[in-house]
Amino acid sequence: MKKIIIAIDGYSACGKSTTAREVARHLGYVYGDSGAMYRAVTYYLLQNKVPLDDPQALQQALEQINLSFKRDEEGNLQTWLNGENVEAAIRSMAVSERVSTVAAIPAVRRAMVKIQRKLGENKGLVMDGRDIGTVVFPEAELKVFMTAKPEIRAQRRLKELQAKGINATLEEVMANLAERDHKDTTRADSPLKKAADAIEIDNSFMTFEEQVEKIISLAKERMQE
Ligand code: DC
Repeated sequence: MKKIIIAIDGYSACGKSTTAREVARHLGYVYGDSGAMYRAVTYYLLQNKVPLDDPQALQQALEQINLSFKRDEEGNLQTWLNGENVEAAIRSMAVSERVSTVAAIPAVRRAMVKIQRKLGENKGLVMDGRDIGTVVFPEAELKVFMTAKPEIRAQRRLKELQAKGINATLEEVMANLAERDHKDTTRADSPLKKAADAIEIDNSFMTFEEQVEKIISLAKERMQE
């Protein structure tokens, strides 16, 4: 069967990452978390107090950023930034609150798209994000656009944060998701939108297993085409 690229795009907290990771594991594919890349850049810029409105400072900062992904003992992919495991730090509310602003900067997107395309050079990749099917891999064999009701997304994200010991209220999470959706869909460079050839999956009332199975069966069809 031929190797393909699977692009999974959608709003924040739709369960794209967990689903994409499981689909990749099942198929023996590489999983690429493009949101983690934007989060790691945001974390770096915050840590180093880089002014976002200074193009030169921003360009210099981008040149200092070295991102990689390594598995921990349990096999979970961890984001590393310049030799530091930042997986937990990039999920904080402080990063979530700034990431959509950073992700709207064209220079940041150009740098991230370059890394993302490299991961797809040999196909056999499942990548989730906002512009994977529209900009990063417009030729992806399978494009999925995931959606879920806002209140369901907020509940799920809150649970995830609480499990990690991060304090937040449902109101805070709902407000953050609404703001990010707005910024991600209205930015000028690569806004979140459903690709014309993407298959929409609303997972509000689907189990995790159902979503994974649906994508795997679509993927298998595409592999045989
Ligand atoms: O998937 P996530 O919630 O971890 O993504 C964090 C932010 O990064 C999201 O609010 C928008 C941005 N992002 C993006 O602009 N393009 C992508 N391909 C992935 C994420």
